[in-house]
Amino acid sequence: TYVVTDNCIKCKYTDCVEVCPVDCFHEGPNFLAIDPEECIDCSLCVPECPAEAIYAEEDLPPDQEHFLAINAELAPQWPVLTEKKPAPADADEWNGVPDKLPLLER
Ligand code: SF4
Ligand code: F3S
Repeated sequence: TYVVTDNCIKCKYTDCVEVCPVDCFHEGPNFLAIDPEECIDCSLCVPECPAEAIYAEEDLPPDQEHFLAINAELAPQWPVLTEKKPAPADADEWNGVPDKLPLLER
């Protein structure tokens, strides 16, 4: 599966959802999660993310490995998003800020 990681939090640009052939992005208040049961590993979403927040499971940086479980937990709880929507007004200010997990809204 592919995994959305820390830098999506409070950025949530949503470019990723437009290219997913199986509609496996699920939207929370300030983060998107990929359902590992649905992702077909096509990799199309990776270059679409302006925050470079999406990784293949096997390529996850060591400090992002906990996001595998976070995606698996949250995706089934959240609705599918298939169309790009405006990012938060302050998204660019949060792009690149490390360790945003305490700010993740569920
Ligand atoms: Fe969707 Fe492909 Fe990205 Fe998986 S790798 S989330 S199937 S676009
Ligand atoms: Fe998040 Fe990047 Fe998609 S910031 S919403 S993973 S385009």
